[in-house]
Amino acid sequence: MATGAQYRKCERPATKDYLQRRKCGVCCAPLPGQKPGLANEDRMFFLDSSEEKEIRDIFAWGVVAGVTTNPLILAREAGAADLEQRIRGVVAASHGPVSVELTTETEAAMLDEARTYHAWAPERICIKVPFSEIGLRVTAALTKRGVSTNVTCLMSFNQAYLAALAGGTYVSIFSGRVRDMGYDVRPVIAQTREQIDREGLSARIIIGSIRHFMDVNESLEAGAHIVTVPPGILRKMLHNPKTDETIREFNTAWANRGK
Ligand code: E4P
Repeated sequence: MATGAQYRKCERPATKDYLQRRKCGVCCAPLPGQKPGLANEDRMFFLDSSEEKEIRDIFAWGVVAGVTTNPLILAREAGAADLEQRIRGVVAASHGPVSVELTTETEAAMLDEARTYHAWAPERICIKVPFSEIGLRVTAALTKRGVSTNVTCLMSFNQAYLAALAGGTYVSIFSGRVRDMGYDVRPVIAQTREQIDREGLSARIIIGSIRHFMDVNESLEAGAHIVTVPPGILRKMLHNPKTDETIREFNTAWANRGK
C-alpha cells in the first residue's frame, strides 16, 4: 500500500515539468531499497479486469502492479458469480492492490461493505470509494483506520484534489468519460499531479476509463502515476508489424545460415 511516509517531498521549486522533477537526484533520491526515481509501489500499469486467467497471463509479463475492478466490469465479466469468490480469484492471480468498489450509498452501509471486502485480503484489498460528500467521509474514516482507498469516478481537478486531501491512497480520473463530455482530460491530470507534488500529498493518480492505447501514452505524458488498462488494450501495445517483420527476417537468416 502506498503511504505518505514512503515518499519524500521534493524541495525543488514547483515546476510544471513533472518528468524533470521525477529525475531530481537530490531531495527525491530513493530511500534504501527503492528503485532510483521511482518508489517501489510506483509502476505504470494496473489491469482493469476481473478475468482470472487473463490477469494471471498478463502478470507474468512483469509489467503490471495491481488490479482494478468496478461493478460494471464485474457484472459484465462475472454475471451472477459470487463476488467474494471472484475477488479471491483475482487476488490469487495477481500481486499488489486489488480495488473493489462499494455499491451501497449511505455512510454506515459503505463502511460496513468496506469492512467485508477488506477482510477478504487485508494486505491487498483497496476499497474503491465512489466520489461524493459521503464518499469523502468514508475515505477519511477508512484512511484513519489504515485501510487503502481508491477514490473513483473523478472527472475534474477539484474532485481529485478533494479526494487526495481526504487521504485517498489512489485517486482515479476517468479519461474516456471526461472525453465523452467533450473535454480534454490531459489538463485535469497535469493539474492534479502538480498539486499533489506541490503539497507532497501521498495520493497516487490512477487514470482509468482507457479506450485506446493513445489514451495510455497521453495519460503518462500528462503526469499519471498509474494507468489502469483493460487487457485487450494492453495486448494491442505488444504489436508492431515492423517488429514482426524484423524477427522473421532474423530467424529466417539464422535458419538458412551456411546454405
Ligand atoms: C477503473 O478504475 C474504472 O473503473 C474503469 O476504468 C472505468 O472504465 P469505463 O469508463 O470504460 O467504464
